[in-house]
Amino acid sequence: MSELLLKEIHRFDHTLEVENAFTPPASWYRERDFHLLEKKALFNGWSMGGYSQSMPNEGDYLTSLVGSKPYVLIRQGGEFKAFYNVCSHHGTCVARGSGNTKKLVCPYHGWEYNLEGKLKKIPKAGSIQDIHQKNLNLKPIPLKVIGNFIFIYLGQGEVTEFNPDIESHLTRDFYKNLNFLKRIEYDIPCNWKVFVDNYLDGGYHVSHMHPDLASDLSLESYKTEIYESYSIQSCESDNTGRVEGRSEYTWLFPNLMINRYGKWMDTNLAIPIDENNCKVIFEYFHEEEPIDLEESLRASHQVQLEDMDICQMVQTGLNSGVYDQGVYAPQFEKPMYSFHKKLKETFLKHLS
Ligand code: FES
Ligand SMILES: [Fe+2]
Repeated sequence: MSELLLKEIHRFDHTLEVENAFTPPASWYRERDFHLLEKKALFNGWSMGGYSQSMPNEGDYLTSLVGSKPYVLIRQGGEFKAFYNVCSHHGTCVARGSGNTKKLVCPYHGWEYNLEGKLKKIPKAGSIQDIHQKNLNLKPIPLKVIGNFIFIYLGQGEVTEFNPDIESHLTRDFYKNLNFLKRIEYDIPCNWKVFVDNYLDGGYHVSHMHPDLASDLSLESYKTEIYESYSIQSCESDNTGRVEGRSEYTWLFPNLMINRYGKWMDTNLAIPIDENNCKVIFEYFHEEEPIDLEESLRASHQVQLEDMDICQMVQTGLNSGVYDQGVYAPQFEKPMYSFHKKLKETFLKHLS
């Protein structure tokens, strides 16, 4: 790692009070070295893999990416299994998207794996006996089911302990008995941290940018709780409808957001693609069928479009060369500051 990278990390001073602090330099959001560092430092432990309710049937599967590691999550024998989504032959991703299947067939030369990841068939490849000697099964990924959330472990070596505080937060009844509705992927031309920063501004942008949402919330009741590797923002609403009652927005370091409001839950996973692009996967869940389903999804999509648009504009400014470090709005943006501190700590730990 270059001296320059270390210097850029240290330019963010995590010791100041939020009132006096400056945000991380723009380099954190636009330099390839940071993107490469993040892949190794942030996305090499426990990561969100999926939700049990979105895979209710035997043979249901989904694929995604953490850092540069593609994985496939499968429901098999009443349990969940995770594998690196990489064919043992020439490394092709074996599965695509999500769906239901009885086997995984590589799209390149048709090697076939069963849902336990075992290589079962090698079309026209000569002595299968010999090939089988080499253990060409899909590589398994350790996994942990917490409430309805499925976490996968993508680190090397021994599996580290899962944070017990987060575990008890996620197993609350609040997150149970929800039905999966749909998954939407948004490609956003911004660094993934821009999206997370936007989420962690303590509701600061809501009244200015999402007037429809703001009119449904009692923003004066907005509250933020900050913990070691997660934070919770919450807000009340007197309105009936989509955001009725208490809304709770939980963020788990580094890139998972869980929103519970009214009869709804949606989860957002921000996946870095490169330093200038990310993908955010939204999954929607609800209690009993909401009467205003279409209208709720439309309202939510509207909020996403507004956020995506602003995130893109932030990235343009970060790439402009005329902006270096900003400041925090102290009343609101403590959760964002705490995210940045945790980033710095994790970067330095990885580099030491
Ligand atoms: S790469 Fe998968 S079958 Fe050839
Ligand atoms: Fe927003």
